[in-house]
Amino acid sequence: MLRTFKTLGDLTGKTVLVRVNLDVAGIPDRRIDQATPFLKELVGLGAKIVILSHRGRPKGQDESLSLRPVFEYLKKHFGDEISFEKGNSEILLLENLRFDEREEANDESFAKELASLGDVYINNDFATSHRAHTSIVGIPKFLPAAAGPLIIKEVSELSAIKEVKEQPLVFLLGGAKPETKLPVIKNFLDRADSILVGGVIANTFFKSKGLEVGKSVVGDITEVSEITNHNKIILPTDVVVSKSLDRAEAVATKSVNSVTPDDYIVDIGPETHRAFAEILGGAARTVWNGALGRFEVKDFAAGSRACADAMVQSAAHTTVGGGDTIQFLEQEGLLNKFEFVSTGGGAMLAFLAGEELLGLKVLEE
Ligand code: 3PG
Repeated sequence: MLRTFKTLGDLTGKTVLVRVNLDVAGIPDRRIDQATPFLKELVGLGAKIVILSHRGRPKGQDESLSLRPVFEYLKKHFGDEISFEKGNSEILLLENLRFDEREEANDESFAKELASLGDVYINNDFATSHRAHTSIVGIPKFLPAAAGPLIIKEVSELSAIKEVKEQPLVFLLGGAKPETKLPVIKNFLDRADSILVGGVIANTFFKSKGLEVGKSVVGDITEVSEITNHNKIILPTDVVVSKSLDRAEAVATKSVNSVTPDDYIVDIGPETHRAFAEILGGAARTVWNGALGRFEVKDFAAGSRACADAMVQSAAHTTVGGGDTIQFLEQEGLLNKFEFVSTGGGAMLAFLAGEELLGLKVLEE
């Protein structure tokens, strides 16, 4: 069980170190909007707060990854109550912690330094809770520590998936990084009803089956060799191919048996949309992470759109995660139709893969 922040007692007059996720590409961003309500709640409780976060993966001080633009945006909510980097205001936002190399090294001296700024620590950043970094696992060694409401909500939603609270349970997994999705597939093979795959994961399965994938990106086929023909893994039967990855060039729909060496697989085909939509439509719980094709190119987005439509029109409890997938659904105006939007990409997948998230472990009772 995670310790909730209520276990920290009365926070009036206390200084609370709050780890939140402000890891945004630009402003505005829904991550900032998701972090804000809890900050307001703490202010409402009479606490002073020091906000800890990172942005991107800087190598040293990289001004393009400063949290200053986030500070400017937060001023709209908090006005003069918030200051940046230093100051004695009610709310202090520290600069990107990863500008200091000790953050990712989980350095004890840095943990002590940060801990000395407050009386208690609350982690409300699920998305970074799989990282053994100072602001995630180091500070709780020196201060009373608890989980914020975003983490509690994430763990409850994602645990319901792990415990298979409803069936049929259907996964839809795609995207560019099979190495982060395969552990989820393997962890759910005995529990999920169907695992629908697209994107680079599907290409990796095709290659493992000895099918031609042309110039398409593939993952490590040794990782899928034992599960290539598993009956719960549903592969596309047709695909959209193009001669270019970045624009529609000689686009065609082909059976997965007819891909040629000069093709890029860029989407699932219409026969597959229909098959996937039927399975998603009949599910009680669906979980999506990762695009089914290169949806950045409009002509290659039909498969992802068709699956998204099937999910939101179904009676299933729908969960989605992953930065690109969320961005796509936002663009399509569909994101608010999903029941649960995870704040975590890698962290959601690690949790569903059954990994122990070290940032959560330090918050357990
Ligand atoms: C995320 O975007 O998944 C989190 O902010 C963690 O970022 P990281 O993968 O750079 O550690």
